[in-house]
Amino acid sequence: MKEFSPIIFKDGQLSLLDQRKLPVEENFIHCNTLEDGFKAIKDMVVRGAPCIGYSAIFSLALWLKNNKYDSKEFKKACLFLKGARPTAVNLAFEVDKVYSLCENLHDCEDENIFYKEVVEFGFLQLRESESNNRAMARFAHEELKDRYKNKKLNILTHCNTGFLACGSIGTALGVIQYLGEQKLIENVWVDETRPYLQGSRLTAYELTKLEIPHKIVVEGAASHLMSSGLVDAIFVGADRIVSNGDTANKIGTASLSIIAKYYNIPFYVVAPKSSFDIDSNSGDEIEIELRPESEITNYRDNQISPLTSEAFNPSFDITSGINITGIICEQKCLKPPYLKSIKEIFNGN
Ligand code: MRU
Repeated sequence: MKEFSPIIFKDGQLSLLDQRKLPVEENFIHCNTLEDGFKAIKDMVVRGAPCIGYSAIFSLALWLKNNKYDSKEFKKACLFLKGARPTAVNLAFEVDKVYSLCENLHDCEDENIFYKEVVEFGFLQLRESESNNRAMARFAHEELKDRYKNKKLNILTHCNTGFLACGSIGTALGVIQYLGEQKLIENVWVDETRPYLQGSRLTAYELTKLEIPHKIVVEGAASHLMSSGLVDAIFVGADRIVSNGDTANKIGTASLSIIAKYYNIPFYVVAPKSSFDIDSNSGDEIEIELRPESEITNYRDNQISPLTSEAFNPSFDITSGINITGIICEQKCLKPPYLKSIKEIFNGN
């Protein structure tokens, strides 16, 4: 299967596969303004840290198409867009890159140059993500070869980290796709991922298209699976990795890492360097997005809990760096102590 892109930018329009409707419907939503892009990110038409970042680039291109470049006004647009979702650092990373790119073009005579360059930058980032993700998958394979030789593997994953989240093969799911290509997958345990069901709706959809054997499980099954010897390794993505290795990812990731440590099962985070935030020292500094209660109390517009019951819906949690076996980025598989290994890749060593 050739995976298709959930992000299409063509003829000055941004089209996003509406991930809220998958797997029942495959529909694209069309964005013509920055506000359209903001809403699509906030409402999770598009989601997953890398795809949030790429959609932000094209949303800023829409602003540049519709407005004459003015540094102050453009900065306001950038700040506005950054507010769409606070935890995934890829959003701020790509927005800051676009802002610097435009500031460097400031003296250009050609009015259209800002728009053209930003669109080109968006395509470049999407293209590079594919080779980066393949590099990460190869590092993961090396890690597993050391431990398991050529044994067929049972992998557990959480949330959705495939082409829907990344635009190309994906991070943690890219590893799984690569292992599938090497005929090394026995089974993938797909965490359902309450409450938004990125696992049962999106990861299972991708694995079906990839023809990789998988079974959906509820998150509460993790301890049972691990204690029964049914999990060889866990691979998850990341929304933000700070300088000591603490990692924000979809709610439920931290408990998986704790159980994995208890049963001595390797737990890997797979994420590009654009998901690192080396200006933050620990997970305590990461803002955790709170999502609407209705995502828990309702299912597809049907109320499923008492009308008067309140819910609390933190969308991410922090996995402590001390529970992570390795953090795989496009450069290498980083090992603890992360304070040292992360610093090294950002200092160019
Ligand atoms: O709320 P979402 O669906 O955007 O959350 C996505 C995740 O938590 C992913 O695991 C993360 O963004 C990594 S995507 C490669």
